[in-house]
Amino acid sequence: MAVYLITGASSGIGLEMTRLAVARGHKVYALARRIDLLREEAARLGELMQPVECDVTDRARVHEVCASLPELPDVALLNAGLGAFGDKDTFNRDSYERVFAVNYFGALNFIGEFYEPFVKRGRGVFVGVSSLAGERALPGWPAYCASKAALTTTLEGMAISYRRTGIRYVTVRPSFIDTPMTAGQQQGMFLIWDAKRAARYILDGIEAGKIDIAFPLLTRLLVWFARTLPIRIYRAVMR
Ligand SMILES: NC(=O)c1ccc[n+]([C@@H]2O[C@H](COP(=O)([O-])OP(=O)(O)OC[C@H]3O[C@@H](n4cnc5c(N)ncnc54)[C@H](OP(=O)(O)O)[C@@H]3O)[C@@H](O)[C@H]2O)c1
Repeated sequence: MAVYLITGASSGIGLEMTRLAVARGHKVYALARRIDLLREEAARLGELMQPVECDVTDRARVHEVCASLPELPDVALLNAGLGAFGDKDTFNRDSYERVFAVNYFGALNFIGEFYEPFVKRGRGVFVGVSSLAGERALPGWPAYCASKAALTTTLEGMAISYRRTGIRYVTVRPSFIDTPMTAGQQQGMFLIWDAKRAARYILDGIEAGKIDIAFPLLTRLLVWFARTLPIRIYRAVMR
């Protein structure tokens, strides 16, 4: 049995990962702002799921939550995220700040809390739920893509910079998943997985010791190809 802390556990991929982790016998500290949803789920799943109200952008609250956990998690699964699609024609600085506060600094807040304790213990796993959308910008999603690029790069940078710590840094890069985040936004999306399938793929990857969990394969290949395109061509194609 492992101890997981999962952020964004009230909905979508985080909820399905919480359900699956509990079904596999793991203990889960399940975090989100909508505590009622978490409590309802905990009533169904039993004591292995511990609901905790936490806004990941509130650094003081994150500190309070982490400091009051009765045990140090084995895996900090930093999944909470905010979609920001349809950002076209007008630049809005605030939307970047909002999205980065959740998708980037929301994850870093937990890394800041657990880094030293993980080092001291000599082991720990940080899993950042990033996105294949962080590999190249998509039209209408500049803030979201930038936040995911930052998260992916940070995990990679930490892994190659702080090597003697016994910490494993895992980057999760899904493509399109059917969740409340993408509801009503799925025009133009393809190879969409359901959240249960995505959750199983992610947990299997974590348990198998992977450091990069990117799916589905075809989208991953497409993104890899897109990355090889010169900027000029990519911009012309995506406009
Ligand atoms: N769906 C996709 O196609 C897709 C693709 C690639 C990557 N992802 C990533 O996968 C992760 C999960 O997304 P999802 O699709 O499952 O979305 P979702 O169903 O909208 O779930 C988002 C979760 O994040 C939580 N959250 C948002 N803001 C928060 C905050 N300030 N503090 C604490 N929790 C917060 C929400 O909980 P509360 O509102 O209760 O706080 C909710 O549980 C995200 O990081 C997303 O970027 C999604």
